[in-house]
Amino acid sequence: MDYQQILNQIEDELYTQKSTGKIASYIPELAKIDPHKLGMHLYCINSGHYHFGCNDERFSIQSISKVFALTLAMSLLGDDLFKRVDVEPSGNPFNSLVQLEYEQGIPRNPFINAGALVISDILISQLDNPKKDFLNFIHQITDEPSITINTDVFKSEKEYSYRNAAVLNLMKAFGNIENDIDTVLDFYIYQCSIEMSCKELSKAFMIYANQGKKLIDNTQIISLQKTKRINAIMQTCGFYDEAGEFSFRVGLPGKSGVGGGIVAIHPHQYAVTIWSPKLNPKGNSELGMYALERLTTLTGLSIF
Ligand code: DON
Repeated sequence: MDYQQILNQIEDELYTQKSTGKIASYIPELAKIDPHKLGMHLYCINSGHYHFGCNDERFSIQSISKVFALTLAMSLLGDDLFKRVDVEPSGNPFNSLVQLEYEQGIPRNPFINAGALVISDILISQLDNPKKDFLNFIHQITDEPSITINTDVFKSEKEYSYRNAAVLNLMKAFGNIENDIDTVLDFYIYQCSIEMSCKELSKAFMIYANQGKKLIDNTQIISLQKTKRINAIMQTCGFYDEAGEFSFRVGLPGKSGVGGGIVAIHPHQYAVTIWSPKLNPKGNSELGMYALERLTTLTGLSIF
């Protein structure tokens, strides 16, 4: 299969797509990004790398970080983690508070903000130096020690984190947050403000496509069983109240972020990342969804 030719076709099609999407502006620093940025990187298990556009430029990974956080927390805590966070799709926006009230402070899944805040709380309790250890984990799976946060995005989100603070307060009232609220919020925002390129994200997500192992040297980063579970949660909950639509159109497990990135994986085949900052009303990259739908259609490689 000529993957580069397929990516070139997708790139051409993207330039002709009419976009109605809007860049995320509730974190003011994110609103400064050029909305026309576009990059894609496909990393195949057996047949190399293919890319176009600014696939090497780092952007704010935002909620894509929730997959790394879940991976670390699952390795540290095992199944006990799921006493504090469920694995059901929420059918609600990523920053919603409504279900938490009637579900007694137990978030629906680890990929909505509430769930990721519980995971952050768990990591703070488990790790000696949560920020450093979290970044080290990303360095380990990418072999890119220069990956770090964007301090302007970090400060900007901190200034406007009223909703996440509300979510944390509600969960603390239900007894599902152990640590100090400001400490948890600070660590959560730190994770979201990490910057990575499409190329680096595809490399990192290769562990989920490759049975929990780094492709480069076969180091087992997470067990096969945990890989299966993380992929299942990406499939059912990776796109919030658009998880069904993403499955329907693309047919891969994946995760989005309000920085405009989407990463998706095909077990045993590939990891792919697309970056296009304009978001649809559900908070997912509009052109990103289009590009991935075209990728699985043109290659015939989706999990369904
Ligand atoms: O907590 C927030 O609202 C952001 N730091 C992350 C949200 C996000 O990326 C949702 N994804 N589509």
